[in-house]
Amino acid sequence: MSYPYQLKSFEDYQQAWQHSVTDPEGFWANVADHFYWRRKWDKVLEWDFKTPDVKWFSGARLNITENCLDRHLGTLGNQPAIIWEPNDPEERHRILTYRELYNKVCQFANVLKNNGVKKGDRVCIYMGMIPELAIAVLACARIGAIHSVVFGGFSAQSIADRIQDAQCNLVITCDGAFRGAKDIPLKSVIDDALMACPSVKRVIVCTRTRTPVSMLKGRDVWWEDEIKQVETMGNPPVPAEEMEAEDMLFILYTSGSTGKPKGVVHTCGGYMVYANYTFINSFQYKPGQVYFCTADIGWITGHSYIVYGPLSAGATTLMFEGVPTYPDAGRFWDIVDKFRVNILYTAPTAIRSLMGYGLGPVNHKDLSSLTTLGTVGEPINEEAWHWYKDQIGKGKCPITDTWWQTETGGIMIAPIAGITPEKPGYATLPLPGIQPILVDETGKEIEGNGVNGNLCIKFPWPGMIRTTYGDHERCRTTYFSTYENLYFTGDGCLRDEDGYYRITGRVDDVLNVSGHRIGTAEVENAINMHAGVVESAVVGYPHEIKGQGIYAFVIAEKQVKDPELTRKDIMQTVSRIIGPIAKPDKIQFVSGLPKTRSGKIMRRILRKIAEGEMDNLGDTTTLLDPAVVEEIKTGRL
Ligand code: WTA
Repeated sequence: MSYPYQLKSFEDYQQAWQHSVTDPEGFWANVADHFYWRRKWDKVLEWDFKTPDVKWFSGARLNITENCLDRHLGTLGNQPAIIWEPNDPEERHRILTYRELYNKVCQFANVLKNNGVKKGDRVCIYMGMIPELAIAVLACARIGAIHSVVFGGFSAQSIADRIQDAQCNLVITCDGAFRGAKDIPLKSVIDDALMACPSVKRVIVCTRTRTPVSMLKGRDVWWEDEIKQVETMGNPPVPAEEMEAEDMLFILYTSGSTGKPKGVVHTCGGYMVYANYTFINSFQYKPGQVYFCTADIGWITGHSYIVYGPLSAGATTLMFEGVPTYPDAGRFWDIVDKFRVNILYTAPTAIRSLMGYGLGPVNHKDLSSLTTLGTVGEPINEEAWHWYKDQIGKGKCPITDTWWQTETGGIMIAPIAGITPEKPGYATLPLPGIQPILVDETGKEIEGNGVNGNLCIKFPWPGMIRTTYGDHERCRTTYFSTYENLYFTGDGCLRDEDGYYRITGRVDDVLNVSGHRIGTAEVENAINMHAGVVESAVVGYPHEIKGQGIYAFVIAEKQVKDPELTRKDIMQTVSRIIGPIAKPDKIQFVSGLPKTRSGKIMRRILRKIAEGEMDNLGDTTTLLDPAVVEEIKTGRL
């Protein structure tokens, strides 16, 4: 494959960016011309941020899997599409060539069809990081079913909420998943979830851990048995379903400032073009390179930069089942060494945690294959940036610090690796097609450089969110109503003297814990479910490894006799309701919360206390009971 739209120099980038602003339709049409469409578009872009109503490539017809698989078979059929490294380094890795992946996707697409899945149906996927997860995702896309992947760390309750919201009728899962020393019983979690999900008629279970599972007659079938059946049928070919560019491709749930996660919807045409364009450019992928993104496919990073971006580019994408510290903190480096990885894309949390183990696990690993390093998910502190640059990249690999969101579908602000002059801690400059703007609280644009503001985007890009599933109004109020005619990201941002962007973190009630987005309201709702809790308030505080930790202030029903035990109980409750990633790091029992006279919790004050900035609480005179602040300060953990 060649990439005619890959940027080759900084001048190239500047010209492309300029072109994308003066003639966005012409710019994106040029890129889109290099894909396989069954029918080309009538109109490149129609948009209105008020409704919002955004359409890219209207009238075009395609199937994303023909772009990720079929079109590569002639030239790249025998090239590795997916390299899979298991959790246990003693187990054999697997390599799927483009042809093998194509065959497996077609086979499983047949399985889905045999189980009654049709175009437009929603399919929930709850699996560990095994190749079958990517196969399941692509098989859905092949027949026009809408996948909703739920991260393997979410609880039964969270899965049930997501399945109900999307009204899924089929679930694909595994008996269990290996993650480090743990063995997660995925099927049993699904069984619990499905008690509340009558819409689900069928569960397909893939074997991985051989954990004993209960198979419900008439509902549950084994992946392997279903494949055998397709083989008996002689593996009939599965023509890819012809989709409209604006047909839904997938739903992915993400946290916001209100309680319920929302189903971010991405569509076929624009998302494909954007995931591909940003992959090829941000990482400067060269044909034949091995690319390793350490994310889980349960998050947007895995969707765009393990599956759709790399595969649409004919790249070799490495999937890793395990965790960075198993069996020891050198695991990433072993994988780089073993497969001669060229591009590594990971999260600042992982870097900070591995830094903590010193250079022992890095030394004596051959990292000379690395050409490019990427980070995503949260702001990267300078110390971690330099460690990554010097110890992993040996000073010779560019770092691309990529800022983006579930809602943006792909990378928005990031250096073009090796081309954009980098600056530690900065996502640097917008990619072509992206028009960032900083605004103040009133929505007034903050012009010039050396300024801080709320980050918005003022023009559509092909990968952007189209709606929140089943509730378009929610999409409008969350993203398009805070500031008129702008997409609001929820992030604060600095534009420095050079015009470089540095994301400073969320300005809403969303936490970023180890790169995972968690709504404070969600955690509060979970804590409040505990029988002994009257009320709670949750804020973030700086955490050395996780970036942000979760600090919960809890009013208990009666005097807490054994705080340690009650804390554990509350954590267990949060784990049950959301998942272990949302467990508070600190729980402080308080007798009251700082509220205004109208009953609103003043989180600003709690945040300051959690951060340890006690002398700097700001105005507390509007509080109903200022004395409560003193008590909270004294009891701070
Ligand atoms: C944060 C992950 C600083 C940001 C792809 C954003 C970042 C949220 C960066 C989206 C970065 C992501 N620097 N902050 N390079 N990348 N963020 O939806 O607050 O899981 O709004 O998407 O992560 O998280 P999400």
